[in-house]
Amino acid sequence: MEFRHLGRSGLLVSEISYGNWITHGSQVEEEAATACVRAALDTGITTFDTADVYAGTKAEEVLGRALKGERREGLEIFTKVYWPTGPGRNDRGLSRKHIMESINGSLRRLQTDYVDLYQAHRYDYSTPLEETMEAFADIVHSGKAHYIGVSEWKASQIRQAHALARELRIPLVSNQPQYSMLWRVIEAEVIPTSEELGVGQIVWSPMAQGVLSGKYLPGQPPPAGSRATDEKSGAGFIASWLSDDVLTRVQRLKPLAEQAGLTMPQLAVAWVLQNPNVSSAIVGASRPEQVHDNVKAAGVKLDADLLKAIDEIVEPVTERDPAKTESPARRP
Ligand SMILES: NC(=O)c1ccc[n+]([C@@H]2O[C@H](COP(=O)([O-])OP(=O)(O)OC[C@H]3O[C@@H](n4cnc5c(N)ncnc54)[C@H](OP(=O)(O)O)[C@@H]3O)[C@@H](O)[C@H]2O)c1
Repeated sequence: MEFRHLGRSGLLVSEISYGNWITHGSQVEEEAATACVRAALDTGITTFDTADVYAGTKAEEVLGRALKGERREGLEIFTKVYWPTGPGRNDRGLSRKHIMESINGSLRRLQTDYVDLYQAHRYDYSTPLEETMEAFADIVHSGKAHYIGVSEWKASQIRQAHALARELRIPLVSNQPQYSMLWRVIEAEVIPTSEELGVGQIVWSPMAQGVLSGKYLPGQPPPAGSRATDEKSGAGFIASWLSDDVLTRVQRLKPLAEQAGLTMPQLAVAWVLQNPNVSSAIVGASRPEQVHDNVKAAGVKLDADLLKAIDEIVEPVTERDPAKTESPARRP
């Protein structure tokens, strides 16, 4: 495993981190979840990403049990707040009340006294940013989180929050956006702003939820046991990537991966890591073999000719519009 600084902070994170969205507490049984976490630890992953909302709060519990007994100082545990965690009108968003309640719930479920990074899972247009940042500051100053991050925030929102964080003397060090060969909306605005401010990207769905593994074939039903067959939640989230146009182009990447001596999952994960503003690529996995495959992308250098050849294939189906970085206009 290779390690990178999280933005311009002193915190080192594994280039590849393990995330448990859709899988833990939902798509996969606890035994498989624990085996994936074990595989992550065995292959040198030290950074784990979850959220209060995943699997209706069950994902944090599963991760907490799977990491129990590990040396806490050897791990970086990240979680998030914003999406609903209960039926009440205050069980969501970035109000002081919800942030304070949510961090306590997360720490209890994760069985830890602190998280290394606490992230605003989206921008909340109905809470003053000052209120949110002051609540984060109290959390950092009380030792419940060491660093603060955001997720899917626009460049202008990151800039405003960063200025407040400096005033409040708390480290806002990361943004967590979607980023892959197929989804590059952060390149035009979020990345240049983040570079200037010392904010690093921890990118999600680097494999476009498994699509860039090449296992979904155009015109054919999805393979059994894949996310696209998970009716509980996965199938709904991956659906937009399963057009024949996208899948045909992904198949054309296979010879490029072979020539580079990489598997398709490794090519996809290595691709996001070529961007120096990316601190870590968060991969998901429904079985331990996937973790063993994916971690080999750490430290891989892709040459300019290969990057150009990839661009030529995927360009027509790649999304680049910075306006696609958007949080819900109203609290969910
Ligand atoms: N901040 C946000 O708003 C946000 C949103 C989404 C995700 N995230 C974070 O990002 C993490 C990763 O997201 P993601 O799970 O969509 O990432 P991903 O790495 O793009 O997709 C992971 C899925 O692809 C399949 N896969 C992984 N490795 C494979 C391999 N070697 N061969 C074949 N299939 C493979 C698995 O699904 P199957 O085996 O089931 O097909 C796996 O669960 C999440 O867990 C979460 O921590 C954050």
